[in-house]
Amino acid sequence: MTGYDIIGSKEKAVAIVEIPEDLKRLKKEIANDVIKTNKNVKSVLEKISKRKGELRKREYKLLAGDKNTEVMHKEFGYTLKVDPRKVYFSPREATERQKIVEQVKAGETILVMFGGIAAMSVAIAKKQPNVSKIYSVELNKAAHEYALENVRINKLSHKIVPIKGDVKKVCKEFYGKCDRILMPLPLEAGKFLDIAVKCLNKNGIIHFYGIGGEGDLFSEALETIDKELKMLKKTYMVTNKRKVLPYSPYQWKVCIDFRVK
Ligand SMILES: C[S@@+](CC[C@H](N)C(=O)[O-])C[C@H]1O[C@@H](n2cnc3c(N)ncnc32)[C@H](O)[C@@H]1O
Repeated sequence: MTGYDIIGSKEKAVAIVEIPEDLKRLKKEIANDVIKTNKNVKSVLEKISKRKGELRKREYKLLAGDKNTEVMHKEFGYTLKVDPRKVYFSPREATERQKIVEQVKAGETILVMFGGIAAMSVAIAKKQPNVSKIYSVELNKAAHEYALENVRINKLSHKIVPIKGDVKKVCKEFYGKCDRILMPLPLEAGKFLDIAVKCLNKNGIIHFYGIGGEGDLFSEALETIDKELKMLKKTYMVTNKRKVLPYSPYQWKVCIDFRVK
């Protein structure tokens, strides 16, 4: 086994393991070892599928411990209530959240498309309390409910507005209003670029997430952006492009930041 993710706090956490084929017969022992060496880990879940479908969830099998896998995850001074079995959540993206946080200025109106449990929104509002408003749009009912709860737990109800719905249907009210838009849906974000551009105000910025091959990280995402912006007859300027995290062997999640004139 090549390591595992831990989601939770010092009091209660869940470990998420991926067990290679040749170690499958030892998986119960491995899970019990994880619990023994991490006193806060109360449950061990094995990944048994890739992320799939619109909601980007995956299937897990409980290998050991408590079947209640809801935890209070702590990172960078805020708390996120989450059950990894019900929603998308990645503790590995904590650093990415901080990279976005560092760019946000006072007074901004921000739209987080595909907002999940509002991890990004909470991270931003905690570090930049003078942000104007953050709207977090999410399709998965369970994730939306956690978003509401996380806004409440972190006392950010005056800054963050979680919205349950499909980005394709609920974003009209933001047309022309947003200074910054996040699009963290790497495989499909291109299909929502027209809406993002409509929601942006003049010279606003989009953080577009995509997937790139090891030898040619950014071409696919850049082509998607270029094609869509040309169709919309908009000029734009790429201000930054970077690797985010490994996505699969030889593939990376990448982020392209660009401003639309
Ligand atoms: C890759 S996850 C990212 C979640 C969150 N931003 C995070 O970083 O934890 C993408 C999320 O988008 C949601 N989603 C997918 N299609 C959507 C749509 N059309 N409208 C709103 N949310 C959508 C999924 O349910 C999922 O929670």
